[in-house]
Amino acid sequence: MKHRTIIEPFKIKSVEPITLSTEEQRAEFLTKAHFNPFLLQSNQVIIDLLTDSGTSAMSADQWAGIMKGDESYAGSNSWLSMENAVKHLTGMEYVLPTHQGRAAERIIYSHLGGKGKTFISNTHFDTTRANIEYSGADALDIPIQESYNTSLIHPFKGNMDTNKLKELIQVKGAENIGAVILTVTNNSGGGQPVSMANTKEVSQICKEHDILLLLDCCRVAENAYFIKHREEGFENYTYEEIAQEMFSLVNGAAMSSKKDALVNMGGFLSLRDKEIAKECTNMLIITEGFSTYGGLSGRDMEALAIGLKEVFDPNYLHYRIRSTTYLGEKLNEMGVPVMMPIGGHAVYVDAQKLYPHIPAREYPGQALACELYLKGGIRTVEIGSVMFGKYDDDRNLITAPMELVRLAIPRRVYTQSHIEYVIETFEEILKDASSISGYEITEEPKFLRHFTAKFKPL
Ligand code: F0G
Repeated sequence: MKHRTIIEPFKIKSVEPITLSTEEQRAEFLTKAHFNPFLLQSNQVIIDLLTDSGTSAMSADQWAGIMKGDESYAGSNSWLSMENAVKHLTGMEYVLPTHQGRAAERIIYSHLGGKGKTFISNTHFDTTRANIEYSGADALDIPIQESYNTSLIHPFKGNMDTNKLKELIQVKGAENIGAVILTVTNNSGGGQPVSMANTKEVSQICKEHDILLLLDCCRVAENAYFIKHREEGFENYTYEEIAQEMFSLVNGAAMSSKKDALVNMGGFLSLRDKEIAKECTNMLIITEGFSTYGGLSGRDMEALAIGLKEVFDPNYLHYRIRSTTYLGEKLNEMGVPVMMPIGGHAVYVDAQKLYPHIPAREYPGQALACELYLKGGIRTVEIGSVMFGKYDDDRNLITAPMELVRLAIPRRVYTQSHIEYVIETFEEILKDASSISGYEITEEPKFLRHFTAKFKPL
């Protein structure tokens, strides 16, 4: 059959207007926002690619679930729906609801962490690292070497380096390792997948040394898509079966359900060990809420239970991954330097390669994020020296290893014509690339400066 356009496998029942703006208006909005897209109002943005987290469009079934939500403090029916859905997926006995991913992280890592402990991951997401370090423990990232080469094609760039894992266990001592964490897909590493073979090997090593293995499973359905299409032996599995097999290899999981459970708020912690679950449940009740709702309302739990099933629909996943790839491959063909291969939830542009004349200390990623907003009203996020830059004792900037800009695609929100519009905006970005200048920071907070820093064009 002739190749056909992959259509959005849904019809639109309810619409949210986009406020259109002119380039002139956007220049004014951006100046008022001190050249930091985080400080823009959402109605000043045309296409919002800031994050795929909590930005999904819910289905008619999920909205129906919202109406059915049981708001009982204890033993809510909606909790039963959520608990069943999570148990069905993870196969784990203990499920703790939380209001979002980092709450699950705070609970588990404050219990497992503390001074002298080390956590090892393919790459810790920022909030995971922050929660671990806040407990006094260390967080080490050991992705495979291939993941550092942005243009190298590799099917599972999210994999963990298992030789380094064995070495680290020898050096640190198994008893001092709080947990090993696999982030699927690897968000900080470009949304790249982790293979089942790698998960099995990591699981085997952890078992041999009696070390806890956890899954950061925000994007486990997207990861399953890559396994089915790239890893031998999984062609005849359903996406859900692949995810279930992955969960069968680990001792616990933390999920920000704001991603692959297709809800705007929610999360959970899933555990096999009774003692750990008991300790974590105490902390849950003290800080989040009773064990049958965590920080969630009944309606949130009902929608989450439905979303966790919908996300494994093969038509949805095919559309989801292909549409992200479509954007990334088009940009790549046009000559925009993007991280390859394209990951599941986002396209990462290498701003340093696009603007080689702007030194890292003048923030080429921020320059691109501002250009995308000015030319197209597209909001993205810099993942480079604004986000990760640090100062040495003499206030000299230590720049980040890469200067990236992330275009994260919200789930079921934008159509192909929105994506075409983004591609067209990049045509203009390419044309003007050599005339763009960098930025300086005029004001910044002590921590997480990218959220609120103020900038000035140079
Ligand atoms: N783990 C991963 C891999 C994530 O990507 C995120 C959030 C979290 C944990 C924390 O979850 O936000 O529900 O508390 N990522 C968002 C993003 C913020 O834009 O990538 P949360």
